[in-house]
Amino acid sequence: MKGKNFFVAGLIVVAMFMAGTTVGFASDKEICKEQIKHYQLIKMNDGLLPGDEFNPYDYKGVTAAATKALENEGKREHGDKNHAAISKLVATHLEHIVTAAGAAAEGAIESVGHSMRFLYLSCKACHKVYRTEMRLRP
Ligand code: HEC
Repeated sequence: MKGKNFFVAGLIVVAMFMAGTTVGFASDKEICKEQIKHYQLIKMNDGLLPGDEFNPYDYKGVTAAATKALENEGKREHGDKNHAAISKLVATHLEHIVTAAGAAAEGAIESVGHSMRFLYLSCKACHKVYRTEMRLRP
């Protein structure tokens, strides 16, 4: 009887582990599908598009997109500490963008641009480590 209980317990542990791994992968995919939308909204406002000298910089739009991306990044589930550390980098650069664009002070556009380059590299770092073969951009 005791042996049978161990067998059942073992099966439950294996089933939970399998469910855990699939949920983990699905969650990166879902979170990233949303992240790319926010990323592009910020990117569109880099002040470098032709004709941008005629358009006022959209501080509010950038702040809103970065705030949503930051919130979304917080929902990511981590299977190991490297995954968590890279996600933390992404969150840090997003925080800088929220602060700079939110203040809309002198030099804010440059500050956002600076953080955007680090954000790009941080998103890319995770893809390089976990999904090299997918050749994701970033
Ligand atoms: C902690 C790791 C991690 C971070 C940080 C990360 N990604 Fe991802 N991303 C992944 C993984 C893993 C996949 C592959 C998901 C799959 O299996 O299809 C992915 C997939 C994607 C995809 C393809 C989604 C699709 O349609 O299938 C895009 C686009 C993307 N990421 C954008 C981003 C952007 C933009 C950022 C930064 C704001 C970012 N990612 C940050 C891990 C990460």
